[in-house]
Amino acid sequence: MAEQFDLPAIIGGSGLQAMPGLDITERVDIDTAWGQPSSPITVGQLGGQKVLFLARHSDEHGIPPHKVNYRANIAALAELGASCVFAFNAVGGISEALGAGSLVVPDQIIDYTWGREHTYSDSSDVILNFVDFTEPYDAQLRAALINAAALSGCDITGQGVYGATQGPRLESAAEIIRMERDGCDIVGMTGMPEAGLAREKNLPYACLALVVNAAAGKSDRLISLEEITQVMAERMPLVNTILTEVCNSTLATQELT
Ligand code: HPA
Repeated sequence: MAEQFDLPAIIGGSGLQAMPGLDITERVDIDTAWGQPSSPITVGQLGGQKVLFLARHSDEHGIPPHKVNYRANIAALAELGASCVFAFNAVGGISEALGAGSLVVPDQIIDYTWGREHTYSDSSDVILNFVDFTEPYDAQLRAALINAAALSGCDITGQGVYGATQGPRLESAAEIIRMERDGCDIVGMTGMPEAGLAREKNLPYACLALVVNAAAGKSDRLISLEEITQVMAERMPLVNTILTEVCNSTLATQELT
């Protein structure tokens, strides 16, 4: 049976520090057992649907990927009653088919990050939680994102492997070749441990990724901030439309395989 999302949360990455069109009703300053999230959680109406919004790198985009308190971010959204999470991530494109401007809903992830606080199961006084992570992204949320993109009239790639790197430096060409051999289609710095922590909290989670540059060595140019900024300026309105659409959609009834 189709059912409306109760309280979707959006985590905005680079390029999405605030949600356009969000009619803000409240900003909640919340302290969790894991510390404070990147910024207060914004509560508001997005196209008629109540949503939570969190800027992953803070409202001022000041927190680098390896310093984000992912545990506090996910815990804060869970404590405020989020029923699911749509994460937006700017990424580099590894697969030839995923040029700058491409939109991707990944179905798998490989974690290359290190040294990040990546679990809630890290002390002897909590039950060790060996969560299943075979399918890191929620199939219904992915289907809903793909559907929302279709309704917004845009092409989207409905699967792919997200390689999560440590950053903040970009990768070397050899690192990207290795990731390609591993099966990665896109590369970003914030996909993990966020997805794993959402799973530990039992929060359905999916990612909408925008390719903002060809990954290192995948074009005849070096990666430039100007190019990234230009792609974002062109494509972020579409990302906003898809996120608004998906938050107001009914859950897709058919699971993806
Ligand atoms: N690599 C890692 N993270 C990124 C990239 C990239 O090329 N582009 C945007 N985020």
